[in-house]
Amino acid sequence: MKKLPEKFQMNRKTVCVQGLGFVGSAMALAIASAKDNCGEPLYNVIGVDVPNEAGYRKAMSINEGIFPFENNDKKLKEAQKNAYRNGNLWATTDYEYFQYADVVVVDINLDVKYTEKQEPLLDLELFKGAMHTLGRQIKPGTLVIVETTVPPGTCEKIVYPIISEEFTKRNIDQREIFIAHSYERVMPGENYFDSIVNFWRVYSGINEDSADRCQRFLESVISTEHYPLTRLEKTTATEIAKVLENSYRAATIAFIEEWGRFAEAVHVDLFEVIEAIRMRPTHSNMRQPGFGVGGYCLTKDPYFAPLAAKEIFGLGNMDFPFSTKAVKTNRAMPLVSLDKIESLLGGNLKGKKLLVLGVSYRQDVGDTRYSPTEIFVKEAQNRGAEITCQDPLVSYWNEMNMQVLTEIPTFHEYDAVVFTVQHKLYATLDFKALPLKEELLIFDANCVLNKKQRLDIKQLDHIKFACIGR
Ligand SMILES: NC(=O)c1ccc[n+]([C@@H]2O[C@H](COP(=O)([O-])OP(=O)(O)OC[C@H]3O[C@@H](n4cnc5c(N)ncnc54)[C@H](O)[C@@H]3O)[C@@H](O)[C@H]2O)c1
Repeated sequence: MKKLPEKFQMNRKTVCVQGLGFVGSAMALAIASAKDNCGEPLYNVIGVDVPNEAGYRKAMSINEGIFPFENNDKKLKEAQKNAYRNGNLWATTDYEYFQYADVVVVDINLDVKYTEKQEPLLDLELFKGAMHTLGRQIKPGTLVIVETTVPPGTCEKIVYPIISEEFTKRNIDQREIFIAHSYERVMPGENYFDSIVNFWRVYSGINEDSADRCQRFLESVISTEHYPLTRLEKTTATEIAKVLENSYRAATIAFIEEWGRFAEAVHVDLFEVIEAIRMRPTHSNMRQPGFGVGGYCLTKDPYFAPLAAKEIFGLGNMDFPFSTKAVKTNRAMPLVSLDKIESLLGGNLKGKKLLVLGVSYRQDVGDTRYSPTEIFVKEAQNRGAEITCQDPLVSYWNEMNMQVLTEIPTFHEYDAVVFTVQHKLYATLDFKALPLKEELLIFDANCVLNKKQRLDIKQLDHIKFACIGR
């Protein structure tokens, strides 16, 4: 067996977290923060990522006491500091460390890939490979908790058969397989840590014993006395719960897009309309018009049920028109803003200079994966526009290979300034005090500017101003 860090105490159970991305890194800290009755760390935690440069970088960052992703959550920073001091969290890219695990929490990615015709397909190879690794390494009786968002049916029809195959090769009794599913609702941002430890969870197991063990584990990490757990009967049910939860959100966002366009055409402020409707308790969480949907989850999860129906359950004739339409509508949404800007700039973007404020997928986070701004910027460049981007939390935009300003520049040299993300920084802009050149177009694509800012801009008669949804 490999050597363990000196500070690991051997009377503690060991939890391995597979995948040290946005979810796994935070979950590893949540587990390392769990305490026993004497207030001492309950677990030794080993984070395991892939043995490549990116995986190694994340592991080393954790070992140096630094969270691998830019974040502004005080509790997460505190948890990182404590784990470093206690020495009960350590990370590696060596898969043999799974041999120590009493529990493995799976937080790797499972992606959708697209054909040339943009048809979605499940990309299962990486996930299957990771399950083979676990089957080869874990000891009999280890509980595997899948937190990754997976197509319904995955635990029963992919995870169990793979671990069973590997256990058979190792002459391990099949009764030693324990698999549970409990999906993440983590929200990077100011409440990153709380969105794990102070939040409700749904869970299930491939059998009663797996579910019971998962329950005990979750109770030791999450404040379940305040945020009760919900147990569902089987893993396919919790897998459906996750993708339905996200598909519902994606569909309700997409639904509002057509109402935004209608409201703009008839000169009505749809935000005020929605505020009025939200007074009715049954409609209190109605969505509002915006710039589009980004991030790793809502852009793929609505495809998981249709793809699972076909590829995992063989239900070739099962359509999910709302879910699939939602993804397509949300992907096209940034172009609604772009078309409007083009028309306001005289019908041609060639040579026009646009300053885009906000490249991350969500306010006050630095994650740029599948950001709607990417769709917007690519198409604006196709149409000949010159783009400068600014974001307080992103200095280099990996997906676009683009340098990003972190400070807001003066607006002088631009034909249009486009607000795309509700970063707090933008609420501090005082448009009355800013030098603004004549005929500048200010475009609020995502309800970024507050009422005072909008009124201030409207009073400047040499400035053109337009919004999505108003
Ligand atoms: N990001 C979110 O806000 C969020 C919220 C809820 C649920 N989820 C779900 O959680 C899962 C993880 O998301 P994420 O945002 O952390 O993704 P991510 O891409 O940031 O992280 C995944 C990590 O897994 C690692 N990995 C891949 N294969 C591995 C292997 N075989 N062994 C060890 N490590 C491996 C990758 O290198 C990467 O570091 C996804 O299913 C996602 O849909 C994400």
